[in-house]
Amino acid sequence: MLQDIERVLLTQEEIAAHVAQLAARLTADYAEKDPVLICVLKGAVNFFKDLVVQLPFHCEYEFVVASSYGGGTQTSGSVQLRKDVFTDLRGRHVVVIEDILDTGLTLDFLVAHLKTKEPASLKICTLLDKPSRRRVELQADYVGVTIPNEFVVGYGLDYNEHYRNLPFIGILKPAVYSHP
Ligand code: XMP
Ligand code: MG
Repeated sequence: MLQDIERVLLTQEEIAAHVAQLAARLTADYAEKDPVLICVLKGAVNFFKDLVVQLPFHCEYEFVVASSYGGGTQTSGSVQLRKDVFTDLRGRHVVVIEDILDTGLTLDFLVAHLKTKEPASLKICTLLDKPSRRRVELQADYVGVTIPNEFVVGYGLDYNEHYRNLPFIGILKPAVYSHP
């Protein structure tokens, strides 16, 4: 697995620093609100787990599964909700926790869907933001790092379901894409 990596974009230490900053910002804004934190599976799972343990206040977990990628590195353009939340979100403060905001299609769809559940507030917290690829007008309320237009893997992010378990975020060697 490691030999497939061309270079490391964010080390474990750099990721940890960004996660700590986001945790501090959420703590300032949500300490008294008992928010529902929605982890967007599968990609956000590493980020979610590292983030929540740094929040010293009451909150609830939720999980959704949305997929827009048929596999590989290109979005299919259509988003499917494969698993919805169980919690009643009406009147609750909700924060969607995402690994990466890329074209924005996934979160745009998710936000519209979650708004129909009438939460008191709905915000987006993403570890990575790739604004250069945006196809819809959407901004996250909390952004860890803005990254250049490169396909990244690791720390939850996959290429064809692999590399999620890398502890860092990196860029694959071009040869990996041509020999799946
Ligand atoms: P969109 O384009 O809908 O993308 O904003 C959001 C979802 O697409 C996946 N994604 C990536 N996955 N490396 C990945 O491993 C990337 O560079 C990348 N860009 C987008 C990801 O699942 C995210 O939730
Ligand atoms: Mg993915």
